[in-house]
Amino acid sequence: MARHVIWNGDTPVSTIVVGRNLANEFVERALSGSHRRVAILTQPPTESLGATYAKPLIAEGLSVTTMTLPDGEDAKQLSVVEDIYRFLNTSGFTRNDLIVGVGGGALTDVTGFVGATYLRGVPCMYVATTLIGAVDAAIGGKTAVNVDGKNLAGVFCHPEAVMIDVDTIDRLPENLKRDGAAEALKTGFIEDMRIVELYESDGLDSDLAEVIDRSVAVKVAVVSDDFTEQDRRAILNYGHTVGHAIESTTGRSHAESVAIGTVAAGAASEAEFSFTGAQRQKDVLASIGLPVEAVEDDPVAIRMQMNSDKKRDDDGLRMVLLRDFGIPELVHVTDATVRAAFAGIGLSLAVRDLDTEEDST
Ligand SMILES: NC(=O)c1ccc[n+]([C@@H]2O[C@H](COP(=O)([O-])OP(=O)(O)OC[C@H]3O[C@@H](n4cnc5c(N)ncnc54)[C@H](O)[C@@H]3O)[C@@H](O)[C@H]2O)c1
Ligand SMILES: [Zn+2]
Repeated sequence: MARHVIWNGDTPVSTIVVGRNLANEFVERALSGSHRRVAILTQPPTESLGATYAKPLIAEGLSVTTMTLPDGEDAKQLSVVEDIYRFLNTSGFTRNDLIVGVGGGALTDVTGFVGATYLRGVPCMYVATTLIGAVDAAIGGKTAVNVDGKNLAGVFCHPEAVMIDVDTIDRLPENLKRDGAAEALKTGFIEDMRIVELYESDGLDSDLAEVIDRSVAVKVAVVSDDFTEQDRRAILNYGHTVGHAIESTTGRSHAESVAIGTVAAGAASEAEFSFTGAQRQKDVLASIGLPVEAVEDDPVAIRMQMNSDKKRDDDGLRMVLLRDFGIPELVHVTDATVRAAFAGIGLSLAVRDLDTEEDST
């Protein structure tokens, strides 16, 4: 079992536990806060897991209630948040009680949102049950709900603990393992090549205990280094500038879009810094069945979407690029670099498509 701690300066704010058979550890942590009531939030695919976590708490004399939310992104709505507030209120929930979210990234996002806002903040814990949740969504304190735009409203909330049971992740269907691999590989490219080597040798059958442990270590270190999100955290957006634009213009999944965005960022890094690892990135992503080209997609729509992205500032578009594996840098990119990024994923941008001022207001 491995424990990782997120720090805000000298203060520990969250512990992430990665291992197997975590029931005892979970119960100990839930009991440590002298909570009387526990509300467990689940979604249909994690309902029975939620019951497994509820049992030992009930045996310890805690009053446990469970609420099953709509599945996936459908839970990330203000109307669902309101339903949860009512459920907690009806259960007599106080600020000394505990909310536990058992599920993937969508479920932990909404759990944290409620944890930060109900009674102006109640303690919460996450049990991350997908690979994306384990290596990304449950770590770092960001929460959100969707209002028109994805993740439009959110608030920081650091769960007291995040439990990642590798047995649960091992049993995930292949598509969820593949989605998580895109984010795990991202942490590999920017910081820890051992993660990349694991996927290169064993593909989706890689040892997920080691992948998760290493990937969590990278995210925890970056978040602790830049707790208030001034600048270093931006390196976690490697592959996401083009990735987000592809996600919102094509309807591809986040993981698929990020895989393509990573290939684009590799090509841009080659153009800007003579990075030599672009082909290696592309090969490992393709080997686990992630897309690495966007030939069918509309380059102009993607380029326009990039202008409205958060990574643009007054001096133009910024991308995270690699000087080498493990050496990421946030840079303002030239038009030539953007064209190279697009060429890397099979898209051709004419010079007239690069009117970067057009959509900037
Ligand atoms: N807060 C952050 O920093 C952050 C970072 C990355 C992603 N996210 C958010 O995370 C979400 C994506 O997370 P996700 O990929 O886990 O998707 P998800 O939470 O929608 O889960 C995908 C599906 O898998 C199901 N599921 C969960 N655990 C399962 C299990 N053990 N076995 C079988 N099915 C299971 C879910 O119920 C859902 O149907 C998005 O909403 C995204 O915005 C947040
Ligand atoms: Zn992502």
